[in-house]
Amino acid sequence: MRSDVRTYAHDVNGVLGSILAVADVQSARGGNGDKAQAAFADIAAAARRGGTLVENLMRAASVADSGTDSAVERDLSYLETLHVALDPVAAELERSGRGESIPIVDRETGRFLSVLVSALRPKNILEIGTAFGYSALWMARAQGPGGRILTIDPDRSRTDIAAEFFRKAGVSERIEIVNRPALDVLPELRPDSFDFVFIDALKEEYADYLRLAVPLLKRGGMIAADNLLWGHAASMPPAANDPTATLGIRTFNEALLHHPALEATIVPIGDGLGLAVKR
Ligand SMILES: C[S@@+](CC[C@H](N)C(=O)[O-])C[C@H]1O[C@@H](n2cnc3c(N)ncnc32)[C@H](O)[C@@H]1O
Repeated sequence: MRSDVRTYAHDVNGVLGSILAVADVQSARGGNGDKAQAAFADIAAAARRGGTLVENLMRAASVADSGTDSAVERDLSYLETLHVALDPVAAELERSGRGESIPIVDRETGRFLSVLVSALRPKNILEIGTAFGYSALWMARAQGPGGRILTIDPDRSRTDIAAEFFRKAGVSERIEIVNRPALDVLPELRPDSFDFVFIDALKEEYADYLRLAVPLLKRGGMIAADNLLWGHAASMPPAANDPTATLGIRTFNEALLHHPALEATIVPIGDGLGLAVKR
């Protein structure tokens, strides 16, 4: 069951428990007069009934949730069996990333990026967050021989692995890796020079990536950004102890969807993918 539903149910139960305690004490105490005592007994009975209803609601929510989850899982497995299998290099790259717990994009997000890039044919792609090069490989293959990708990641131990995969896949000539923090690199890039930007690095910096990336994008160019649902955390009721990454994603989502220069949406593919076109 969703944890916010559980929290709300717990709170309602707490309130009902307090009402019940007071009503029970007052109805047992006597000296209030018969009418008042009967009223307290009625309140106690209603609070007990409320408690039972909350339990029923929680059970129903739990059953509904598991039904939805299994239906979604079934849909995803069905779609997976329909798609063409990954080629050996992409499959090995995906295994390495997942094996070392590198947060690479979900396979369906990779496929979606690939279809987008095939449709839009962007000549110049900017990627923020390379890791082992999984998302870059999806885009490079879809982009075709004339395209270029500039991908930024300060972690050379990861990008050395990416470079090796790019070589194996025969796309390394078209991909330039920059091993510096994106916020240092973006201000140095030429305005209006990219057709497609993919954001997938530090969640706390997403809003700054957006601010700096929009001027780099040509008119009609597209920005895509991963993890906008952030493992179901972004949609939870805000709490004082929310991690900074969750706050970063929420701030970014607002900024993306209300950016005056962008036509944007967020779709629930993988961990949530933002898509925006520069007007
Ligand atoms: C989610 S992973 C990228 C996954 C990759 N896009 C893929 O799907 O294959 C995020 C990457 O951002 C990199 N990163 C961390 N700080 C960064 C920064 N300041 N600028 C750019 N990238 C950064 C991390 O080293 C990590 O490899």
